[in-house]
Amino acid sequence: MMKPLTATSTTYLLLAPLAVLLLVFLLPSLRPRAGGSDGLGVQCARRAGFVNAAAVTAAVAAPPPVETSEPPAAAEFSLLVGVLTMPSRRERRDIVRAAYALQPPARGARVDVRFVFCNVTDPTDAALVAVEARRHGDLLVLNCTENMNDGKTYAYLSAVPAIFAADPYDYVMKTDDDTYLRVAALADELRGKPRGDVYLGYGYAMGGQPMPFMHGMGYVVSWDVAAWVAGAGAEEILARNDTMGPEDLMVGKWLNLAGRGRNRYDLKPRMYDLNWFMDNFRPDTVAVHMLKTNQRWAATFRYFNVTAGINPSSNSHLLP
Ligand SMILES: *[C@@H]1O[C@H](CO)[C@@H](O)[C@H](O)[C@H]1NC(C)=O
Ligand SMILES: *[C@@H]1O[C@H](CO)[C@@H](O)[C@H](O)[C@H]1NC(C)=O
Ligand SMILES: *[C@@H]1O[C@H](CO)[C@@H](O)[C@H](O)[C@H]1NC(C)=O
Ligand SMILES: *[C@@H]1O[C@H](CO)[C@@H](O)[C@H](O)[C@H]1NC(C)=O
Repeated sequence: MMKPLTATSTTYLLLAPLAVLLLVFLLPSLRPRAGGSDGLGVQCARRAGFVNAAAVTAAVAAPPPVETSEPPAAAEFSLLVGVLTMPSRRERRDIVRAAYALQPPARGARVDVRFVFCNVTDPTDAALVAVEARRHGDLLVLNCTENMNDGKTYAYLSAVPAIFAADPYDYVMKTDDDTYLRVAALADELRGKPRGDVYLGYGYAMGGQPMPFMHGMGYVVSWDVAAWVAGAGAEEILARNDTMGPEDLMVGKWLNLAGRGRNRYDLKPRMYDLNWFMDNFRPDTVAVHMLKTNQRWAATFRYFNVTAGINPSSNSHLLP
């Protein structure tokens, strides 16, 4: 409401036997270094690097083979985190990417983080996005027109089931580039939850609705819910024009009208907005939102000890 791989040089493009086949481009990225993980906590790039997806209708492409440092079987569940952002916001993405990479791994969970935006129309952005995709392999480009409350979340949720059809996740998250998500804390919440019919986040009751909708700072739906949005739900959502409007309220409306996402979990107060004075951090944070300036990101990193042991003003040429 507020506002809204692994590199090999092969191209993987498998069209599944659907009635309607649409084009999906997969440009595999090049991993920066062999081995890849570099001790990173949360893998930003694990599957297809740059996916230009047909969002509004069904499109299917198999992601490239997964290369993981641990056998996928070791993971109890998997989570796709989609960070909705805009092509031009490179500096912010850089900060958010570091924020995910420097976190401790989420125990027993396979978590992939993707930066999500619509069609890149500006030629400068297009060139720089292509380079970024090649370097990081964590971009997901949807077939939509860049917007905040004009259907981007719908484009995302409805595209994901087809894009990752070959290797589905248990949960799909939508979050923003002004949210610091603590992935291990979220994974701990999800571990004991059902894998189906889930809708979890910062619950917000509105207009006498018995069931809260989840605030746009970050919410999780189970795979079946995303599949419903992409499939049976699409017709009714589109018929009501319910892709337009405050995206988080709209998602709540789709689910309420259809009786979906009945396993609802409200993570307040562990998800919250950072206040003006930046003094309401909590040690058990799952997500803190409203990180709209570098100063607020810096305060967040300090509070969560991300910068501990790093002395930025030291003369050392080799920081840890
Ligand atoms: C992308 O969206 C546009 C407009 O909705 C549509 O005309 C076009 O067919 C879509 N492209 C693909 C590849 O699905
Ligand atoms: C996105 O870009 C593709 C290729 O340039 C174009 O075919 C499609 O219509 C665009 N979609 C939208 C929604 O603008
Ligand atoms: C949906 O939007 C379109 C275009 O703005 C409009 O023509 C149509 O009447 C709307 N449908 C509903 C159910 O509001
Ligand atoms: C950061 O480190 C300090 C000192 O070790 C510790 O007291 C504090 O609890 C840590 N903060 C968090 C959020 O873990």
